[in-house]
Amino acid sequence: MPENGKITITVCMGSSCFARGNAENLSFIEQYLKEKGLEAEIDLCGARCENKCATGPHVTINGVLYSGVTPEMIRAVLNKTLEG
Ligand code: FES
Repeated sequence: MPENGKITITVCMGSSCFARGNAENLSFIEQYLKEKGLEAEIDLCGARCENKCATGPHVTINGVLYSGVTPEMIRAVLNKTLEG
């Protein structure tokens, strides 16, 4: 957990990751945060291409880089992080 107690989510917004699923992943994250009323608890930001396009789409949650990310993966990671 970062120092300010917030969960940080960084979505790669490079064209490769965006086309491979981060457009959908971003919508999913926004929807998830809204449903759970968590918008204030989470720092959501975008990143430029991280030069790892081949294994994208990438999302980083609390400093951990996830590859080949799907909405189901994000849901599982966030559920687990929020429980802990
Ligand atoms: S577009 Fe995400 S790593 Fe290149």
